[in-house]
Amino acid sequence: MPSINVALIGYAFMGKAHSNAYRQVSHFFSPRLTPRMKVLCGRTPAKVRAAAREYGWEETATDWEEVVNRKDIDLVDIATPGDSHAEIAIAAARAGKAVFCEKPLGNTVAEAERMLAAVTKAGVTHMICHNYRRIPAVMLAKQLIDEGRLGEIRHYRGTYLQDWPADPKFPLVWRLDKKKAGSGALGDIAAHSIDLGRFLVGEITEVAGDLKTFIKTRPLPGSPNKRGRVTVDDASTALVRFRNGAIGTIEATRMALGRKNYNRFEINGSLGSLAFDLERMNELEVYFESDKPSVRGFHRILVTEAGHPYIKAWWPPGHIIGYEHTFTHTVYDLLEAIADGKVPQPSFADGVKNQRVLGAIEKAAATRRWVAL
Ligand SMILES: NC(=O)c1ccc[n+]([C@@H]2O[C@H](COP(=O)([O-])OP(=O)(O)OC[C@H]3O[C@@H](n4cnc5c(N)ncnc54)[C@H](O)[C@@H]3O)[C@@H](O)[C@H]2O)c1
Repeated sequence: MPSINVALIGYAFMGKAHSNAYRQVSHFFSPRLTPRMKVLCGRTPAKVRAAAREYGWEETATDWEEVVNRKDIDLVDIATPGDSHAEIAIAAARAGKAVFCEKPLGNTVAEAERMLAAVTKAGVTHMICHNYRRIPAVMLAKQLIDEGRLGEIRHYRGTYLQDWPADPKFPLVWRLDKKKAGSGALGDIAAHSIDLGRFLVGEITEVAGDLKTFIKTRPLPGSPNKRGRVTVDDASTALVRFRNGAIGTIEATRMALGRKNYNRFEINGSLGSLAFDLERMNELEVYFESDKPSVRGFHRILVTEAGHPYIKAWWPPGHIIGYEHTFTHTVYDLLEAIADGKVPQPSFADGVKNQRVLGAIEKAAATRRWVAL
């Protein structure tokens, strides 16, 4: 199989998840391009070397600009905080590389638009990492909706709840700094609920929103006696209207004690409903009004049959898959799109649309008014 040389920028949480996907993808799927894990890039030489050894990268680097301009690199994967996405992606596109970028696309709508313009002008393959689209149960939900099994869609209820910084003693990490992260729970996790809403229901045309920061100062990392200001939201809520007439709510918070990675949605249509929860990601709950009244009710599909999306590549029915598989599926589809010279979904255009919704929620919260997109 021909191979494709990958450079990954950022080696921590997402760096590890993406590395695992490149390592696994050719063992389970048969992409026409085999990813070669060429260079891992980070800022601290000893740490990036240790990560490269652990994850299986051939080389390390500390200057991303040099890396994206290397002639032997075909695909640049961006797994850094949001404040560096735009400059890395634009430089990579100008150097003619395919670009895979973590969400949210940039820290502002303007940055995201510049990124889309750069990849479009360069004519390179581009993709944003909304990996939750590629969960078999979510793909099944999409199929059922597209087949009309739910009828006309009326409600989308997207909820993404976590609690990792709920303790006021938790330090002021980059995710709590607007300059680095762009926004808080909004861009970090509501962005996923927005993407799932757009994927499953359709375009969002209007929003009303609210943002709240409960813990306003926190200890500085490494200097627990000094405090700094939290400049992002801890929680966001939004009412949304979709172009097809559906209405919805999107709630994201990092202050929901006990909720770890509760990414849930429920969709109600004129003929049925479905519900999904990431913490039970192999299952899809469905309800069909057409079922015989005596057995009608929500029931659980264990989405692990060979006929379900992506499952044939893995294990026999009932032998469940997990979080890391969502990245392997995403990377598989990215590699196939590169082989076909096509742009996969979600693309940077989806990233821009997502960012516009994030921006509209911020504006709606600031002005206390509905904002049209
Ligand atoms: N798809 C998902 O489900 C998901 C989950 C978590 C995070 N993310 C996104 O992934 C991105 C990274 O988040 P994370 O959780 O991996 O963060 P992290 O803090 O765990 O890792 C960030 C990495 O970027 C590196 N880095 C920072 N600035 C750099 C620079 N200028 N040059 C080179 N390396 C640099 C850091 O050294 C670190 O290795 C963010 O955009 C985040 O929103 C997506």
